[in-house]
Amino acid sequence: MLTVKDLQVSGKRVIVRVDFNVPLKEGKIRDDNRIVAALPTIKELLAKGAKVILLSHLGKVKHKEAPEVVEEQKKKNNLAPVAERLAELLGVKVTFVPVTRGEELEKAVKELRDGEVVLVQNTRYEKGEEKNDPELGAYWASLADAFVMDAFGSAHRAHASTFGIPETLKKEGKPVAIGYLVEKEVSALTRCVDVKKEDRPYVAILGGLKVTDKIQVIDTLLKKCDYIIIGGAMSYTFKKAQGEEIGSSFLDEGALDYAKKCLEEAKGRIILPVDSVITDSFEPVEGRKISVAKAIPEGFEGVDIGPESAKLFQGYIEKAKMVFWNGPMGVFEQEEFQAGTKAVCESIRDLKGKAFTVCGGGDSAAAVKQFGYKADFSHVSTGGGASLEMIQNDGHLPGIDVIR
Ligand code: 3PG
Repeated sequence: MLTVKDLQVSGKRVIVRVDFNVPLKEGKIRDDNRIVAALPTIKELLAKGAKVILLSHLGKVKHKEAPEVVEEQKKKNNLAPVAERLAELLGVKVTFVPVTRGEELEKAVKELRDGEVVLVQNTRYEKGEEKNDPELGAYWASLADAFVMDAFGSAHRAHASTFGIPETLKKEGKPVAIGYLVEKEVSALTRCVDVKKEDRPYVAILGGLKVTDKIQVIDTLLKKCDYIIIGGAMSYTFKKAQGEEIGSSFLDEGALDYAKKCLEEAKGRIILPVDSVITDSFEPVEGRKISVAKAIPEGFEGVDIGPESAKLFQGYIEKAKMVFWNGPMGVFEQEEFQAGTKAVCESIRDLKGKAFTVCGGGDSAAAVKQFGYKADFSHVSTGGGASLEMIQNDGHLPGIDVIR
């Protein structure tokens, strides 16, 4: 695969697909990590004298909804604040183009000088984006001489901006490459599926809500890992499958048979919590009852792993040479239920310099950042869905394979 380093693009127009799908509240960016993560690639292209055209999606725009709903969603997911933040971080002017096609965009691209940047409005303003409409991909491709894929968080989507553009440019014999962020992500996550002897014992830690969403990833990891630790809400479906009392904890009914089969086949390689923090009210109301229990009584639900489980998990983690973690151990958004997720962060921190440790994006990456452990990991992915799909597809994602 070509990388941004290999490109000779002085004076050329280069489209960079970035993932600026950042959390926004009332038009303010709450976490600019994804913008920061794209800077090395943008800076490299600017230093090479390229004319940089940035494309990204932001949030969801459901074109099947009524026109006024679509308008509302577009308003909410306007990329303008991102252009401002990017200009601050880059220290250069960023021209924001508030449309996704037409004269205004074409003029902005034509007027771009070497070493300048435009950011185009949210690609999802276009109905054809998520359908990978070939006309749309070809239109955007017509604006560029080269393409760089640096949107790791969107690389599992075969959309017009992630797939259609590079496909068209490749057919025209124009260069397509990956950026520094994608290069880093691919190298870390490939190591998690292409397991070497020196990376064993290899321990995966999974959490999150539904087993159903993780079936493929569990199946793949069972083939690759020595142990899979399962915490978070997901673990209650497995505990129920073992015949344990889970009270009113979240149960993924449709996945019970799978969980049973999985436990049988894993032959002791799936490690479940042995105690839980339980509550009679998920909502943080005054006077709610919180305690630690092994069997969960009716009227109570498990919301975090308990201290014995944290210790049990640590015993596996401390021996690992490689760890892949996706999904928090509890409802870490509430202070009372953070301990389990923090304990996993600490166990992984203690491996620093001794093992290769990857946090697979999404909620667990948010927790790692919130608790201040990001620097203790070998890699914290910027892609939630993308990193999981990369694991379950044995290192393949459409937005990266098209470059390959
Ligand atoms: C993400 O936040 O996971 C990526 O930006 C992809 O977003 P999507 O799930 O809306 O495609």
